[in-house]
Amino acid sequence: MSDSRERQLWRLIAPLPASRNLILGYTGSGKSTLEAALLEQYHTMHPAHANWIIDLKDRFFPTAPHREGSLFPGGWGASVYRKRLGTAIRAQLVTDINAPRLPGNGVYVIKSRATAWALIERLFAKADYAKKNMLWFDELLPFCNRQGVLDPPVQRVLQLGRERGIGAVAISQRAIWLDGRIASQSGRWYIGALETRDDLERIADLKGIVGCDTKRERMEFWTVDDYQFRIYDRQHGINLVMKINLEGKAA
Ligand SMILES: Nc1ncnc2c1ncn2[C@@H]1O[C@H](COP(=O)(O)OP(=O)(O)OP(=O)(O)O)[C@@H](O)[C@H]1O
Ligand SMILES: [Mg+2]
Repeated sequence: MSDSRERQLWRLIAPLPASRNLILGYTGSGKSTLEAALLEQYHTMHPAHANWIIDLKDRFFPTAPHREGSLFPGGWGASVYRKRLGTAIRAQLVTDINAPRLPGNGVYVIKSRATAWALIERLFAKADYAKKNMLWFDELLPFCNRQGVLDPPVQRVLQLGRERGIGAVAISQRAIWLDGRIASQSGRWYIGALETRDDLERIADLKGIVGCDTKRERMEFWTVDDYQFRIYDRQHGINLVMKINLEGKAA
């Protein structure tokens, strides 16, 4: 694929401002790598929007937040960084939501559940549709109870965020861990390889896939190879299977 075609494709599949998006796949299926690539694209397209990476799994390592160049100096994938496997990102670590933030590039990393809750409260209180925020949850599980029901603040931000200019990209390893509402509220799905038949069946319970009337057809539809993702957005007519090339960097 030529460079410009690749750029066009990324622009097409990147999350839309104030929209809800779901990334699913088994552990190691490439979700965080895809997330990094999507974030890079989103940030390039909307440099004035704030991006908050809620990283309770400690995957992203914030480094000096330059305004220019790639957000990911070592690429989108994980590499060994300070003796750990992770991805370096040009972003600011935020531990206190009320502390003044340094002039940076508008990309922030949060590592604790309490700070994430405080952020959500603050975004709701100071909602401004003209000042868009995108939340990137690297794993939703720490925000769910045993029945897969989301913590009320997170549920609220997914349900009501749009009117306040707040978008979300939610990642999870297992479909069966999630409350079905999370999937049905997401306009755009990025579904990677799933771990078990139960996960596949849960996803196949979702109706509304153009041309797939039976559950069997939907199970086939959602079956992809390792590191591949089926990207589906009915409203915007997106339906494709793709695999990120780790050599390629976003322009
Ligand atoms: N598109 C790809 N091509 C080749 N290798 C990939 C690709 N995506 C991911 N990988 C490899 O798989 C590893 C795991 O990827 P990643 O951390 O993105 O998975 P994950 O789904 O986020 O896992 P977890 O659920 O454990 O967080 C990466 O370190 C990388 O080596
Ligand atoms: Mg991950």
